[in-house]
Amino acid sequence: MNWNKPYSEGGFSQVYEEMNLKLKKILQEELEKQNISGLLDLFGGNGNLSEGLSYKNRLCVDIYQNLKGEDFLNLNLYEDHALGKILKEIKKRELFVSHLILDPPRSGLRDLHYWLDQIKPKYVAYVSCDPHTMVRDLEKIQGYSIQKSLLFDFFPSTFHFESLIFLERKD
Ligand SMILES: C[S@@+](CC[C@H](N)C(=O)[O-])C[C@H]1O[C@@H](n2cnc3c(N)ncnc32)[C@H](O)[C@@H]1O
Repeated sequence: MNWNKPYSEGGFSQVYEEMNLKLKKILQEELEKQNISGLLDLFGGNGNLSEGLSYKNRLCVDIYQNLKGEDFLNLNLYEDHALGKILKEIKKRELFVSHLILDPPRSGLRDLHYWLDQIKPKYVAYVSCDPHTMVRDLEKIQGYSIQKSLLFDFFPSTFHFESLIFLERKD
């Protein structure tokens, strides 16, 4: 094992595997209550959160470049035209996004409300390690209601935790 590699070499991975499995189990059970016709996994890394789900089509997006497989897309999701590029990909792949997972870094996804307005997923699972940016992003959303909210003690003995919020489109 080499402890001196740069952060995120080989792609992001969660630091606490037991808790990661718990998070995935709960996320999976909740999302699979409804048939998943199309799944968009933003800030998806190596597909950790969506890999166990039963879906017909998936698009997993991350800035990490060594992603393998046709259902992975390398994209900077903070660049100006990221949403437009995703919409084009969705159309090209004929992906009907019923479910959206997002798990951004601490900076969150400031324009999440635009993303939801354009992509229109019925179900959303937002995973966050920073409740401040998560609340900032959620406050601007319209047309969705919060179904469930959970905290995971991913970083014991620190004040950090992981949040998971499920949203459902109202119409
Ligand atoms: C908290 S991790 C979540 C990864 C994955 N969902 C998981 O459970 O392992 C955040 C992810 O965002 C990716 N990321 C960071 N900045 C990004 C950007 N500008 N555009 C796209 N992805 C980015 C990182 O590479 C990392 O995989």
